[in-house]
Amino acid sequence: MSVLSGKKILLGVTAGIAAYKTAFLVRLFIKAGAQVKVVMTPAAREFVTPLTLSTLSKNEVISSFTKEEDHKNQWNNHVDLGLWADLMLVAPATANTLSKMATGNSDNFLLATYLSAKCPVYFAPAMDLDMYRHPSTKESFEKLISFGNVMIPATSGELASGLSGEGRMAEPEDILNFIEAHLAESLPLRNKRVLITAGPTYEPIDPVRFIGNHSSGKMGYELAAAAHAAGARVILISGPTHLPNPHKDIHLIRVQSAREMFVAATKYFPSVDIAIASAAVSDYRPRISAAQKIKKTSEVMELELVKNPDILATLGSGKKDQVLVGFALETENEEENAASKLERKNLDFIVLNSLNDKGAGFKTETNKIKILFRNGTLKKFDLKPKEEVARDILNEIIELINE
Ligand code: PMT
Repeated sequence: MSVLSGKKILLGVTAGIAAYKTAFLVRLFIKAGAQVKVVMTPAAREFVTPLTLSTLSKNEVISSFTKEEDHKNQWNNHVDLGLWADLMLVAPATANTLSKMATGNSDNFLLATYLSAKCPVYFAPAMDLDMYRHPSTKESFEKLISFGNVMIPATSGELASGLSGEGRMAEPEDILNFIEAHLAESLPLRNKRVLITAGPTYEPIDPVRFIGNHSSGKMGYELAAAAHAAGARVILISGPTHLPNPHKDIHLIRVQSAREMFVAATKYFPSVDIAIASAAVSDYRPRISAAQKIKKTSEVMELELVKNPDILATLGSGKKDQVLVGFALETENEEENAASKLERKNLDFIVLNSLNDKGAGFKTETNKIKILFRNGTLKKFDLKPKEEVARDILNEIIELINE
């Protein structure tokens, strides 16, 4: 699986003969599972048609600030596009465009988009050999690298001028390999294995009824997606939910009951580096699960419940050098209860969410959390989409690992 899978790539094409190779580049990115949008300088359209690149990328190709069909009323939003991208690649990057990027010139749509982008930016120079080694071009490279951009060096070979030397844009396959290797290297959880529990558990009363709770699984699935995006190999042990696997490379194990979740979690825990228990596990189960549907014969029915194993506490007692994170869903004495669970379950930190906070906890798209650490530090976070909450939690784990 490519690290580019699911990534949003913005390809900036400038006016060099190597622009014809961007058709192959777009195909390679799409094959790697990325989404691609293309912006071009007006002059680049002479080298490769926008139609080719829009057909391959399945997205409109933009090269001006206004919509071509309606110059007066609509504009193309370079800011939105810059923020959309997970990474931007300028290829081929001509000496002219590089010099403008280095000096903050924004006299075309591609340059304005580059200035708006907050994502990593790669550039693959392509020019004649004398231009490539000219001091002003070298200065542009150095400046752009000092801004945090990443240069994909040109190679040596036959050039459009007929001369031979350094200045050929790297081949599309090499650009793809370069970006993949660079991204993989910088992923904070590369080579880490992460186990996540998610969702509710269903404790059967009889073949048609169960004891369960309102967990949708969303929080845990977002954690799995975020851990995967950070480079980890993820095992997601999920109680019954309607959610699809966030990524085909996430090892999703679907279970029903707390005891099934216990078996899966204790099996995989010894082989992971990090475990996050976000599941809402039923503390009790019916002592007997009837083989047939229970008939409503009596006015009152008593159900005898027995305690389920505490999965997280069991992981905590067998913990070696793993980072172990739990959740606490509370309705009263929140911080006190969370602190007690942190201690009792031998966690590195606990994520507290309270049903007293609007928009937090079960089912919602958002959550509001506090994180309590072993040294007593309490970090408070705003109400956010669960996707962002998941990233906040992982950032705390990454900080712990890097301490
Ligand atoms: O799934 P969503 O709709 O997105 O909702 C997310 C959530 C509210 C379920 C999630 O954010 C959350 O708070 N999960 C933990 C809920 C819970 O059961 O908390 P608890 O305080 O009862 O349990 C404390 C910790 O022990 C939890 O990490 C839990 O997974 C774990 N536990 C509890 C009981 C048990 N038998 N085994 C466990 O492992």
